[in-house]
Amino acid sequence: MFAVNFNKIAMPIFYGKAALMTFLKSIENRNTTIGFVPTMGALHQGHLSLMQQSLNDNQKTVVSIFVNPTQFNNPEDLSKYPRTLEADTKKIADLNLDIIIYAPSVDDIYEGNVNSDSFNFDGLENQMEGKFRPGHFDGVGTIVKRLFEIVTPTNAYFGEKDFQQLQIVKKMTQKNHLPVNIIGCPIYREKNGLAMSSRNERLTPEQRNTASIIYKTLNNTSTLFQTKSAEEVTLWVNDVFKNHPTFELEYFQIAEEDTLLPCIEKSVNKKYRAFIAVFVNNIRLIDTISLK
Ligand code: PAF
Repeated sequence: MFAVNFNKIAMPIFYGKAALMTFLKSIENRNTTIGFVPTMGALHQGHLSLMQQSLNDNQKTVVSIFVNPTQFNNPEDLSKYPRTLEADTKKIADLNLDIIIYAPSVDDIYEGNVNSDSFNFDGLENQMEGKFRPGHFDGVGTIVKRLFEIVTPTNAYFGEKDFQQLQIVKKMTQKNHLPVNIIGCPIYREKNGLAMSSRNERLTPEQRNTASIIYKTLNNTSTLFQTKSAEEVTLWVNDVFKNHPTFELEYFQIAEEDTLLPCIEKSVNKKYRAFIAVFVNNIRLIDTISLK
């Protein structure tokens, strides 16, 4: 016997890993493919597009909803992170009633020891988000590895908005020989270009509107980078944000896609991306664009 809680809309929601693992074992046969979408809830269209991709590719789809404390370096960010399980469940039910939801407690994951494991991501962790959010990627590595061990997915889906996270999860999977394919999915944007994020909910309508400048600026960098150096483009971006006091630019960096090392001198054989983190009234937004 295992405890499965069906909510009013008759979807399987598991609050504990033991019950989920037993259930997955009972439905799996040799050919069952499991797609997995890890989330922290406050679901938006971007998350739903990852779930749709998983539904297209796999026989079963599992979605986790868990605000992972160890990846927050800022306690205020953790306490203000939206927790909307009921609304999230409804959104998932509207998409597909067969999706299996895992919404564990902190104790179910951390068993009384809410600490990160230590990882070596071959330097990927030292750039950008890693510099400005100490310990963040150890927290991400810890939770993703534990979730993979519980769900044992065939394929796992991550948005490219968190491109550094995507590269780090690929590295962690490869180094630990975990048998899961990591699939990066395109960024889902609001009509004005703002990358969808659970944090957008905390913006006022006016901030949300003006935050379109982030994507507009990234698009312009993509054009500028064809003729200018990474340094020149970076100076230009810094000027743009100096003229917009509503926004505080935390970093803008052009980096090589595979290593995430800053681009010092362009090489035709390498793929580059622009990465940006901006504060709008204490709300931190990130975005990225591929530079062709
Ligand atoms: O991208 C996120 O929402 C989180 O970092 C993840 C991958 C669900 C781990 O908590």
